[in-house]
Amino acid sequence: MAIITDEQNKFFRLVTKNTEYQMKADNFGVLKHLWYGKHVNTDMDYLLQYPEISFSGNIYEAENDRTYSLNTLPLEYSCEGNGDFRVWALSAEHPDGTRALDLRFADFEVRKGGYAFPGLPAVYSDENETETLEVTLEDACSNICVTLFYGVLEELDIITRAAVITGGRETVYLERAASLCLDIPRGEWEWVHFHGRHAMERVTERAKLVHGVQESSSVRGASSHQQNPAVLLCSPDCTETSGECIGAALMYSGSFSAKIQLDEVDQTRLVMGINPDQFRWELRSGESFYTPEVILSYSADGMEKLSHNFHKVIRNNVCRGQYKLAERPVLINNWEATYFGFDEEKIFNIAKQASELGVDLLVLDDGWFGKRDSDCSGLGDWTVNENKLRGGLGKLVERVTGLGMKFGIWFEPEMISEDSELYHAHPEWAMTIPSRKPIRSRFQLVLDMTNPEVREYLFNSVSAVLKSADISYVKWDFNRHIADWYTPTLGKDNLGEMPHRYVLGLYELLERLTNAFPNVLFEGCSGGGGRFDAGMLYYTPQIWCSDDTDAFERTTIQYGTSFFYPVSAVGSHVSAVPNHQTGRVTPFESRAAVAMAGSFGYELDLNTLSDDEKNAVRGQIARFKKYGELIHNGLYYRLSDPLSDKVAAWEFSDGKDALVQGMVFRTAPTSLQLLVKLRGLDPDKNYRLDGTDFTASGAALMSGGYLLPRTWGDYVSFELYFRQI
Ligand code: GLA
Repeated sequence: MAIITDEQNKFFRLVTKNTEYQMKADNFGVLKHLWYGKHVNTDMDYLLQYPEISFSGNIYEAENDRTYSLNTLPLEYSCEGNGDFRVWALSAEHPDGTRALDLRFADFEVRKGGYAFPGLPAVYSDENETETLEVTLEDACSNICVTLFYGVLEELDIITRAAVITGGRETVYLERAASLCLDIPRGEWEWVHFHGRHAMERVTERAKLVHGVQESSSVRGASSHQQNPAVLLCSPDCTETSGECIGAALMYSGSFSAKIQLDEVDQTRLVMGINPDQFRWELRSGESFYTPEVILSYSADGMEKLSHNFHKVIRNNVCRGQYKLAERPVLINNWEATYFGFDEEKIFNIAKQASELGVDLLVLDDGWFGKRDSDCSGLGDWTVNENKLRGGLGKLVERVTGLGMKFGIWFEPEMISEDSELYHAHPEWAMTIPSRKPIRSRFQLVLDMTNPEVREYLFNSVSAVLKSADISYVKWDFNRHIADWYTPTLGKDNLGEMPHRYVLGLYELLERLTNAFPNVLFEGCSGGGGRFDAGMLYYTPQIWCSDDTDAFERTTIQYGTSFFYPVSAVGSHVSAVPNHQTGRVTPFESRAAVAMAGSFGYELDLNTLSDDEKNAVRGQIARFKKYGELIHNGLYYRLSDPLSDKVAAWEFSDGKDALVQGMVFRTAPTSLQLLVKLRGLDPDKNYRLDGTDFTASGAALMSGGYLLPRTWGDYVSFELYFRQI
């Protein structure tokens, strides 16, 4: 039993293998948050404090008790207008223009199995893996109800949270409807977030909380490169292997906000969900608004354990389809090899060479359709460009599959070029604001995904291509952000619904297409990893991690990505040097070592390689296939911090064997060898390093470590396989 309820005291405990979460409704019906941490087996109500803090609002029923204030109590779901002056999870405008709400306990229900809301991605599981608690709160004045959903995955130490807001007596406009409010009244916390930009995503930043609000967010219509919709709170002493931390990942691909507030009495509140800056939703009487889900986990043993919890739940309970646990094909992508300058012969030659070296799948990237010789035109016209692919797509696919390879193809369905047939036929499908000039980005406009006709067109045109030939893979790109929020499909009072309706439209289309083509592997992409979130991973089990293919830079990007997302989700390729994004030259083997910590592939013209390099490719693919199971299904350990250490080192271990890979950034003269300490081994067992006579106990390798081979040059990789004996 993961959910333990005490009906009389309205006391709820969510108990997982290593964690416990508690909440309780008091005599006023206020649902207070009591605990999220280790097992405590005690009603943690005794820790609540009722300080008299002037200028805090007191609810009327508290009469003359100035110590009872919703401004200081830890709450399960905060709202505007009840004397709580911290960040609100919920805010609504009533017909009279007022905005107050006062949520009190109404009801609860416990069920076996998980929950899912219409049109939104959700953690799924077997009925026996999850229990769900629903707690309904009501604002008596308006009859607006909020049902808080808690999905408890006991074995995984995961709790999912979401809220459903149901309209009361009259129509209101929701102005905020967060998925999660988490109050942490105790302790000192730091936060970790993942910021960046195009080609430099998920840079890890850890900071002490300052009083006031700190935020990780996007207003770009996509989760974005700029900040990732996943944040971590940790104790100041938290390391990879010790200390407390809480992780929260929003399953959402649109504009989001995660606000963390350190309040006037040093309590911490996290509110996470759809970004209220781009949200206003008409909620009619009896209608429900469903928030996206947040995946939560707590670890008392540092960030590594927290990451393992997220990796397991995302790999097993978020990603779907036949590829979710299957070996991913090693692919060759022509983008950095050719950009727009290719014809069928060039592509076939890349495929031919790749197939000889053991690559499984050729991905034909941007430029195969419409009038698409540069990024100025053609988006929206998903019919083959026969000037480039003479004889059509079918013929090329046949030739490539004839080599024993699979064939994949690039789309950017949500976009439209003004210079396209689609734009001439349907200018009204492009998102533009009447009377204003549209904002261009990469010369393109965005299609109105709230319009069902647009989705129908995209379903039909993408389907037609996929049906026209033996296509096994789709790369789904999204190469700009959204500025022109206008659609003729919504009236002026409802335009605030558009950013969320856009995401719902995208999800509907992805759901339809992934169902219609269950054997196709979909890889997400947005100028690299600009939409790398748990929402997209529900539809696309891997996502191109970054347009930065420089192996050195990638160690940082993949390090940041690894806090929440499993290795199998990380699309990662070996590319040419000098690198196309940085001009840096890194050794071939180093590029392979970094790309192997992901869903592996190549992105260069293999015909240009020397014979030695071609042999190296054969070896790299063989090693990826040999270690693939361990890399994707083993536990991932961050052995160093590439942002501050001299080395990037990571480990995959299944509890028995361990593969340690990484890169020494610079060789220093007359220096001692660098050391890595392994983790996750059995201290009492011995391990042999493959290809050597070296043996050591797990205890020695974990406490003492292993001396990395001496290096010559910069960015030199290493790969060490320790086998339990
Ligand atoms: C984006 C992707 C690249 C490539 C280009 C094509 O930038 O991230 O991998 O597909 O688009 O235009």
